[in-house]
Amino acid sequence: MLKDKSILLVITGGIAAYKTLDLIRQYRKAGASVRAILTKGGEQFVTPLSVSALCENQAYTDLWSLKDESEMGHIRLSREADLIVIAPASADFIAKLAHGRADDLASTCVLAADKDIMIAPAMNHKMWDNPATQANMRTLEKRGVYVTGPENGEMACGETGMGRMSEPETVFEDTLNHFQNGQKLAGLKVIVTSGPTHEPIDPVRYISNHSSGKQGHAISEVLAKWGAEVHLVSGPVSLNPPAKVKNYPVTSATDMLNQVKNLLPADIFIGVAAVADWKIKTPSDTKLKKSEGATPLTLEMTENEDILKYVASCDRRPDLVIGFAAETGDLKDKAKRKIKTKGCDWILANDVTHTNNIFGSDENHVNLIKSDENNELSCEEWPRLTKKDVAIKLAHEIADKFKTFEREGKNDNNLNIISAK
Ligand code: CTP
Repeated sequence: MLKDKSILLVITGGIAAYKTLDLIRQYRKAGASVRAILTKGGEQFVTPLSVSALCENQAYTDLWSLKDESEMGHIRLSREADLIVIAPASADFIAKLAHGRADDLASTCVLAADKDIMIAPAMNHKMWDNPATQANMRTLEKRGVYVTGPENGEMACGETGMGRMSEPETVFEDTLNHFQNGQKLAGLKVIVTSGPTHEPIDPVRYISNHSSGKQGHAISEVLAKWGAEVHLVSGPVSLNPPAKVKNYPVTSATDMLNQVKNLLPADIFIGVAAVADWKIKTPSDTKLKKSEGATPLTLEMTENEDILKYVASCDRRPDLVIGFAAETGDLKDKAKRKIKTKGCDWILANDVTHTNNIFGSDENHVNLIKSDENNELSCEEWPRLTKKDVAIKLAHEIADKFKTFEREGKNDNNLNIISAK
């Protein structure tokens, strides 16, 4: 599975370093060649001897070793790798990466790298939660560093919380995913809308809904990791934009529509946002005062333009237009009607009855409804999954669809060379 792939593994100081030995075994079993660098801290937990035995390659430790430099300098070490995996990545090493330090062999190699980097953080949960670590993580994510884990659970120190290094199987799976899917959507431009919109009543009040943006952001993150050029048009959310995604924060439905229009044309449009259906016809420029207004207050509302419908019928329609349908009851029938009225190709329909606990949750339970070229509808119910897994499943569907387009020589926009492999 990883035949012909070369991985440079950096082992920093942490008790989780023992898991990395198993990770090396899995990489080797899958056919990858592995070179390892141990930091001084890493050497306290696993020996270079056991690491080199498992790698079947010399383990490197010292920036100043002339022998290493003459045989395999630090630049070559990082150049010859297809991927650099740092596991475990200690809080200290993460801080070093974020600040561009280069005072040992490991940090020098990573700073000199022109390859993708994946880190598997491992530390005490208080260290993980510390704003300094979180800020460093955001810096790395913004630079496009892939992150696997950490996980919640019991720690070596006896405390429980977020910070355990992912199991070797998970780091291995993420590595595999990086190599297998990393370029699947390369060359495709995608516009994703996410989150709620705020429709102003006056300068201090607005109308909105419960959307958290988690699903739209997860889709943007996965598609970007699969190589797509992702433009995320997001209503007000408390989430950070994912790495490698171009983020366009907007407030109202009108702002969202204008931003989408500016970004068109695209190969794919995915409307995940819970766009407000109505706006206040004439928002007040000044704060409405209870004492001056009529009681009960009547607000005159007018309909917002439907962004999904606009995109599905515009001149340079994306090849694939996908919507979401938030329904309460009669899910499939309503979604099937919606796919027709909106004119989109696929709809992911979910039942947002509050007992289903979808809004704000990390999970989603969707049905994928597709309309084919003959307007025939098909419906597939997906199990309840994390929003990240829904995004991954959708990414597979999209990659398959573009493979079909490629076979049929169809790419109406002629916007990009489709390279879905
Ligand atoms: N949508 C949109 N612009 C709007 C309203 C909705 O782009 N002004 C998109 C959403 O992003 C979603 C889809 O349309 O992809 C369906 O949204 P939903 O709220 O389920 O349906 P509505 O069109 O608002 O219809 P209703 O509220 O009557 O069910």
